[in-house]
Amino acid sequence: MTQTANAAILKEIKAHYGLDGTLDLLYGEYTQNYHFKTSNAQDFLVKLGPENAAQDTAKFEQELLLYLTQKHSGIKVPVPIETKTGESHCTIALNSGQHSLRIISWIPGKLWSAVNPHTKQLRYELGKASGGLLEALQSFNADACSLNPKWELNKADWCQDELHNFNTAERQLLAFFLDRYKADKAAYQKLRKQWIHNDLNDNNILVDIKKEQINGLIDFGDASYGQTINEIAVCSAYLISGFPDPLDTLNPFLQGVHEVFPLQEEELQHLYTLIGMRLVLSAVHGKINALAEPDNQYLQISQKAVWENLKLWSAIHPRFAHYSFRKACGYDAHPQTQAFKTWANQQQRSFDEIFPTTSFKAAQHLDLSVSSLWIGTQKEFNDLELFEFKIDRLQAKNPDKIIAGGYQEPRPLYTDPAYDTVGNYGAQSRTVHLGVDFWLPANTPVHSLHAGEVVIAVNDQGNKEYGGLVVLKHKEEDLEFYTLYGHLIPETALAHQVGDTIAAGGLVGMLGAAHENGSWSPHLHYQFMLDLLDYTDDFPGVCYAHQRGIWRDLCPDPNLFFKDPELNGDEKNQSDELLKKRKEVLGYSMSLSYDSPLHIVRGQGVYLVDSWGRKYIDTVNNVAHVGHEHPQVVEAAQKQMAALNTNTRYLHKNVIKFAEDLLKTFPKELCVVHFVNSGSEANELAVRMTEAVTGSRHMLVSESGYHGNTRTCVDLSHYKFARKGGYEPPATTHVFPIPDAFRGNHRGAEAGLAYAEDLGRKIEVIESQGIRLGGLLLESVLSCGGQIPLPPNFLKAAYKEVRAAGGLCIADEVQVGMGRLGDSFWGFQQYDVVPDIVTIGKPLGNGHPVAAVVCTAEVASAFNNGMEYFNTFGGNPVSAAIGSAVLAVIEQEDLMQNAQSVGDQLLSGLRALQKEYPIIADVRGKGFFLGFELCDSNLKPLTAQAKYLANRMKYYGFLMSVDGPDDNVIKIKPPMVFSPHNAEQLLHYLEKILNEDPMYP
Ligand SMILES: Cc1ncc(COP(=O)(O)O)c(C=O)c1O
Repeated sequence: MTQTANAAILKEIKAHYGLDGTLDLLYGEYTQNYHFKTSNAQDFLVKLGPENAAQDTAKFEQELLLYLTQKHSGIKVPVPIETKTGESHCTIALNSGQHSLRIISWIPGKLWSAVNPHTKQLRYELGKASGGLLEALQSFNADACSLNPKWELNKADWCQDELHNFNTAERQLLAFFLDRYKADKAAYQKLRKQWIHNDLNDNNILVDIKKEQINGLIDFGDASYGQTINEIAVCSAYLISGFPDPLDTLNPFLQGVHEVFPLQEEELQHLYTLIGMRLVLSAVHGKINALAEPDNQYLQISQKAVWENLKLWSAIHPRFAHYSFRKACGYDAHPQTQAFKTWANQQQRSFDEIFPTTSFKAAQHLDLSVSSLWIGTQKEFNDLELFEFKIDRLQAKNPDKIIAGGYQEPRPLYTDPAYDTVGNYGAQSRTVHLGVDFWLPANTPVHSLHAGEVVIAVNDQGNKEYGGLVVLKHKEEDLEFYTLYGHLIPETALAHQVGDTIAAGGLVGMLGAAHENGSWSPHLHYQFMLDLLDYTDDFPGVCYAHQRGIWRDLCPDPNLFFKDPELNGDEKNQSDELLKKRKEVLGYSMSLSYDSPLHIVRGQGVYLVDSWGRKYIDTVNNVAHVGHEHPQVVEAAQKQMAALNTNTRYLHKNVIKFAEDLLKTFPKELCVVHFVNSGSEANELAVRMTEAVTGSRHMLVSESGYHGNTRTCVDLSHYKFARKGGYEPPATTHVFPIPDAFRGNHRGAEAGLAYAEDLGRKIEVIESQGIRLGGLLLESVLSCGGQIPLPPNFLKAAYKEVRAAGGLCIADEVQVGMGRLGDSFWGFQQYDVVPDIVTIGKPLGNGHPVAAVVCTAEVASAFNNGMEYFNTFGGNPVSAAIGSAVLAVIEQEDLMQNAQSVGDQLLSGLRALQKEYPIIADVRGKGFFLGFELCDSNLKPLTAQAKYLANRMKYYGFLMSVDGPDDNVIKIKPPMVFSPHNAEQLLHYLEKILNEDPMYP
């Protein structure tokens, strides 16, 4: 529009609405839209109709809005403004034609299309807003016909005539939905109808991103009279964009709709096809437009999303989608779930009917859940011989009971990659078991409880598959259902033909051995299903935890027939109960990570696993140094624990071996070890030793340093005493500024020497007060201080100053030691110094409480002043066995090399991100001791963003911690087995989150 047009519009607005102001042109397809700001700072939207268009459209849309805003206060749509004479619009002559002009209220907020991320909460709120709109429009009556019939879902047959414009693959995809649409047409036509918005696309939804609320639904230019469910289908077709798991995406939306405006079961039956058909309409319209305007790039881009959605949507089983919608709306996922349960509940069957060669009437529950202590480490439960042996032992202990369990049990057993995909929450694994397992020897005959027809009889080969598999279809009373028999001898399964019938009590097959049953200890996987979902040679026996509700309804509990209390497995989420009890009985000053705390029950390499089997990649835990529950370390502990655990007053080879193994990693000057139980205890002892040598307790410590939780250690930890709940430290604590070359007092290449000079001056002040310095206690890389490596030349010069004053130098290696930096085993080795005392903690026992103080012979001699050093637990044979195992694994698995190469990969990835996202102000560290700091352009710390990032990373399955004096540094210090693939994934999700709105307030 030209300046003259602008002026003409403003003139018209003044004349008809009595308003002065300015106009800004906005995006608009049918109408031309303007942001109109009045001279007294009120905002409106001005809508200019197309040239010579039927005036009815504007009038009708205005009527609709008036109805909504007058009849339904609180409805989130624009309010129409009448002209001075009470008209819905005025007419304006521009160029050669007439245009309608009207004004509506301005709805603030961000368009859904520009919002990132579309959180669960937002999708739920959108559901509520859409439901509210449907509810309000239900009683709207108008004679007008729909404004844009070519977008109406109930008149979409015309798309069929456009298929010739597409290539074969595209045609097939479109025809898939068109065929379903035509087939369902008669039932679809009978659904309830009303006026609907009919275009709740992502440019017609305005969002308050801070409050995670919907501000308004706009642009009623496509309003139409049609099936109520069409409204939900249209919105859904846009909502699923950008998510790998569309059903999960729609769940909160449908829940929101249904809460406000209940959807009917028969409507949900059509939703899958209608969502597909809206995508078909978009594709067909897109094609028509593209043929008309072949050079329009924008059209091509918008079509890409449509085709991606079509592919994603068509890959979902339509009936499964239907079940998912039902569940989201609070119905049973399957319409027959309740009827089946009622019928099954009326029966009383016995285990020996399935296994007539046994006489089992009762079950002995076998716990294979993620938290089970029976199954041991991953290495142990993947050892089939061991597993079978343990089953046999359990059977021997319970000779009259059938060993069974597993319905809806989340299990850690499914370690084959076939169980893993990527969903809306990042990497996901199927963990929740859908049937009952009966653990019986190979060759045990298996019989059917019910008469049935064979629908699957195959050898489902492959690791952790079913092996011999039979599925029977049953019809009992009005019910149709299926039973699945997995892990049979393949020949006994293949003895059946599809279509064969098996009588009640008939033989289904025989249990297979590991080599033929998918590599399992022999057992029957026994599962009921209400829908076969068109599987022909397989059926899921395990589902994703987030879909367990749907699957519970689709695969009812086999124990409905047996009613054995031992089989009432169904794991409950205990988190709320644990949280409540924890608050009652544990120290009130103890914290939990994350706004919604995790219930972790298993560790496995780089993973921490929650009670639902969700695996989190742990980038925080430098304690589980060689990987969580490393089998070699676990075994060393278990074996020694069974033989002896006592104190160091007896001779024992373990403690000597451990000391020798440890000392091999040190320069020769550091040659004596005292074993203790924690990093705090190690630092306590180091300070006592310092006093024994120097006669002084006066210690130099860094600002933001942390050394432990005991009285002395807190007195020496500026990170504690100078923060919340802190206090004035004792006179023996002397704090020097944090040697941070990025944001500290001195920056750049010369910072190290400048900080050392400051330290020297500090010592002069101490000495000038007649005080003798005891020593320097310093982390080799400051961790709680924000992953701060000491600047070049600092430590060497600092040690010189301290030693010149007669003090000792203590390196606190509790966080950073044991090869974590990749190219040196100890942090102090980075700086070409040899401390007098080194304290070691966290990684030494891989989670077991063992720590150590390593010192020179001179220090050990001075400490040996006649008072015995006794430590009840320090250096016991179990801790020593564990410590030696940890040291051995670091070497055997070349973990320092891994820290170096994967650390470099992370560093270069983070630096590349830093270039793209300046919010990353600094990337630092080495190996697996890295950090990146979030600041604004003035280096102001972005604390809230760091917290947001860590919480969002948890959402995608990564545990990260935030630290530093301003809580704006993200720390990366994973178990040393963190792999290149883990690094790749970490960087991928970091980048995803760096694009999200809350990172940029
Ligand atoms: C650098 C440093 N020193 C000492 C300690 C104290 O170790 P612990 O918690 O084992 O007593 C910690 C613990 O976080 C630490 O980070």
